Amino acid sequence: IKKIGVLTSGGDAPGMNAAIRAAVRTAVTDGLEVFGIHRGYSGLLDEDFTSMDYSSVGGIMERGGTILRSSRCEEFRLEEGRAKAADILKKHGIDGLLVIGGEGSLSGAKLLMEEQGIPVVGLPGTIDNDIALTDMCIGVDTCLNTCVDTIQKLKDTASSHERAFVVEVMGRSSGYVALASGMAVGAEAIIIPEIPVNYEEIADKIWRERKRGKINCIIVVAEGASSAYTVARHVEHRIGYETRITILGHIQRGGSPTAFDRVLASRMGYASVKALEENEAGTMIALQGGKMVRVSLEKILSQKKTIDMELVEMAKILS
Ligand code: F6P
Repeated sequence: IKKIGVLTSGGDAPGMNAAIRAAVRTAVTDGLEVFGIHRGYSGLLDEDFTSMDYSSVGGIMERGGTILRSSRCEEFRLEEGRAKAADILKKHGIDGLLVIGGEGSLSGAKLLMEEQGIPVVGLPGTIDNDIALTDMCIGVDTCLNTCVDTIQKLKDTASSHERAFVVEVMGRSSGYVALASGMAVGAEAIIIPEIPVNYEEIADKIWRERKRGKINCIIVVAEGASSAYTVARHVEHRIGYETRITILGHIQRGGSPTAFDRVLASRMGYASVKALEENEAGTMIALQGGKMVRVSLEKILSQKKTIDMELVEMAKILS
């Protein structure tokens, strides 16, 4: 391996810049040439490349988003698109590619290697934490901290007005963000796609709390389970609790990464270059029990990450 490319793809996640910085600096230190590819697979197909060196990634670790920018690319979903991408990489002499992104982006990377023979290594970058066989993805911790900050503020106003707040968080078809942020704020109810929702039970619980003298109520709902509007309607209809809704939306993807995300992304960036150098392409760098490990993309993408049922039980007991 002499020349590598690095790109960020799909929904951005805080910490992606730290991963880029670590990958570039590790590669440069090892004598490799590095190309930053702008706008994910779209930029790859447009040959939107920039040569990167040690100093071109200075001062980026603390920045949210991704300096390489990102996209969701339709053309790359097709085999012809991936063949074109492989030709472009070969033309530029790029013999290894690092892809930082979520499930869709990693699936594209896997196909690029399988069909076109381009050595790729993936890094899990998504706030959803929905990638199997890694304990955490880049961006999750920052996202959770943003959720907690915001919901805590909603709790203040909820208490003043004795209201219930239904807060909708992201996560695509995963309930992880809802479960973890809901636990962290002591939400009265957490609704996630992995568990069938029982509005009767939720309403009873909220009513009991209310009668006990609790003056606020927070219900966190994962976007993959239901909408804040639907949940609020159920609560108001059943127990007449005055309810407001907040959809956190893309605020969850922004902001300066937490120390945890900076360290995680740096470790992953470093490990991804080492994997390419040691001919371990076709893998993704994962965090397992505190360690960086290489797991085949095939294995990761053939399974769905499950939710920890013990956490679900715990959340119910503690709130
Ligand atoms: O995958 C990250 C994510 O933020 C999901 O949680 C959400 O469903 C989706 O991306 C939103 O995508 P977009 O930014 O394209 O609206």
